[in-house]
Amino acid sequence: MATPDIIEEEIRQKAVDIVPSRRPSHVGVIMDGNGRWAASRGLPRLEGHRRGVEALRQTVRAAIDFGLDYLTVYSFSVENWTRPVEEISDLMGLLKRFIHNDLHELHRANVKIKIIGIKDTLKPDIRALLEDAESLTQANTGITLVIAFNYGSRQEIVAAARAIAQKVADGRLRPEEIDETLFVQHLDTAGIPDPDLIIRTSGEQRLSNFLMWQAAYAEFVFLPIYWPDFDRQAFETALAQFASRERRFGGVTAHGAKVGTGL
Ligand code: IPE
Ligand code: IPE
Ligand code: MG
Repeated sequence: MATPDIIEEEIRQKAVDIVPSRRPSHVGVIMDGNGRWAASRGLPRLEGHRRGVEALRQTVRAAIDFGLDYLTVYSFSVENWTRPVEEISDLMGLLKRFIHNDLHELHRANVKIKIIGIKDTLKPDIRALLEDAESLTQANTGITLVIAFNYGSRQEIVAAARAIAQKVADGRLRPEEIDETLFVQHLDTAGIPDPDLIIRTSGEQRLSNFLMWQAAYAEFVFLPIYWPDFDRQAFETALAQFASRERRFGGVTAHGAKVGTGL
């Protein structure tokens, strides 16, 4: 009988087989549905968030095995502050525990951690924890795990516009020098390529203020499962869907007129 290790290796190999040359480099994940997962089992929302952290752990491992270069996970939006204080405090507690418990393992796995989102207004202990995670792992050369925490795409774009305007006001930049290349250098994601694939769990089909600039040409996969149920197999399903898509970036396809004409 196959041992769990052998089975795991087979699954890993299968994922590699599915997407030989059409593997995304950067996957963004909107980890949604923790509350509904819990409610459907008669459990408190906190239990859903706890299981969500477990799904995140597995997802990072799978992303490493699949050979991705970047994994961006949406863990807390600027709009999530509107939730009840107890839930916010549970989510902050889980983030702290995740960094405490997993940072060294992630570091050993050569994972580079990058945080995007507004850091200034976070409690000092959380901010310090996030910054320590970034600095400990900054020289790592494996997958980059981007954690979108207290993140909002609109706020990110406004902050970039303000920083650019300040440079112009100071005489350090001329308006005609503002182009896409300069603009993206002022986003939190500066230096990180755009996501190729965005996966959202829970059945919702929206961005909810996630990477709106960066997702201009991303492929989207919406999965009808709650985040705590997201596993290696669900990840493979999303990767297989991505592999079957044809990305055109506004250009024409290799198959010419056949696409979109039904011919
Ligand atoms: C995602 O699950 C986690 C966060 C947004 C922090 P939700 O908490 O949004 O779960 P649902 O969408 O209410 O089921
Ligand atoms: C998006 O989920 C944010 C995260 C997953 C962190 P939400 O649950 O906050 O999004 P909406 O409210 O359904 O749009
Ligand atoms: Mg939600």
